Amino acid sequence: MGLTEWAYSLSESLLSDPLPRRWAHSLGVAERARSLGPIMGDDAELLEAAAVLHDIGYSPAIATTGFHPLDGARFLRDQERADKRVVRLVAHHSCALLEAEERGLRQELEGEFELERPDLVDALLYCDMTTTPDGTPTSSTERMDEIVHRYGPDTIVGRFIQRAAPEIHAAAKRVEGRLAQVSADSQPM
Ligand SMILES: [Fe+2]
Repeated sequence: MGLTEWAYSLSESLLSDPLPRRWAHSLGVAERARSLGPIMGDDAELLEAAAVLHDIGYSPAIATTGFHPLDGARFLRDQERADKRVVRLVAHHSCALLEAEERGLRQELEGEFELERPDLVDALLYCDMTTTPDGTPTSSTERMDEIVHRYGPDTIVGRFIQRAAPEIHAAAKRVEGRLAQVSADSQPM
């Protein structure tokens, strides 16, 4: 089985039944990942696999600490013996270190999982932060407003997302810049 095929089937088995909206979001994030094909080169499949798996830690079947990037990455590492790069991307998706800090789990997360290459980290963040909870495309500004509204500004997630906002916008800008560059380069002279 190929990397992406395995990733879709694993994510579906963990999310689609107990958390259909989270599954719809994951499919949308994976679709965004496919749209980054022109800038991903040989890493296109890796990004798509990480995209469809990034939120599996929410699945009641594997949630243990309640911090989904850590639970998802531990499951992929220990139960699935998954590709290291997929595991690292899931562990650190969308500024997870900042949320880990709010939860007192920073040492666990950074002690167990290395960060992947910055351009891959940016790409996954972009895909997640420009996709609504229902899986449709949005902007990073609207996405963050929605998160703060859904969780409340003075909750763990609300505080985390407000601290992460500058990095999220900067990463989204970097990815959009790379996309624009590739499309400018491919225009006929
Ligand atoms: Fe997530």
